[in-house]
Amino acid sequence: MSGLMRLDLVPTPDGWADIALADVEALLSDHAHCEKKAATTALGLIQPFSDSPEVVMRLVRLAEQETNHLRRVLETLRSLGFSLQRDPGNLYAGLLMRQASDVVDRCIAAACIEARSHERLELLTVAFASRPDLVHLIPFFRELEACEAGHAHTYLEIAAIVHGESTVASRVSLWQQREAAAINAILPRSAIH
Ligand SMILES: [Fe+2]
Ligand SMILES: [Fe+2]
Repeated sequence: MSGLMRLDLVPTPDGWADIALADVEALLSDHAHCEKKAATTALGLIQPFSDSPEVVMRLVRLAEQETNHLRRVLETLRSLGFSLQRDPGNLYAGLLMRQASDVVDRCIAAACIEARSHERLELLTVAFASRPDLVHLIPFFRELEACEAGHAHTYLEIAAIVHGESTVASRVSLWQQREAAAINAILPRSAIH
């Protein structure tokens, strides 16, 4: 994958992790719903890419990984004595997906969400180090954040396999601007984004 197709997102402001960790039950509940929606996004792209067996298999493997993450986040919630709260909705993902006008855009929007999740999960692993009740979660969250970085690449590659790398690369900078606007429009809360 060329450098032109790499996403370079604006950094999350300092202090975000402290706000996120103020309500761990809400944060992990939101995280579980994010994993559920990530699986759904991958499965939803099977139809537009149904003529490409290679892409379909990559999407199915991606959905399997997200479902595995969902199960393990739910187990983590339970192990901490928490329950899954209702999904309050994700304004950030909605803002991005609403701006997708075709399947290439849907893939780039999904890549942005995965890349932002990667960045925020990484920030949480750092913050867990000063929380004795959460420090045991560091290896799991390190695994998750690496996986979400891989998913961001996968979505860009999927779009490029079918529509060409130059088509994807020509839209990346616009999508970086859209992502920055969307993430800055959301007030920090106990949620991944
Ligand atoms: Fe995931
Ligand atoms: Fe992911």
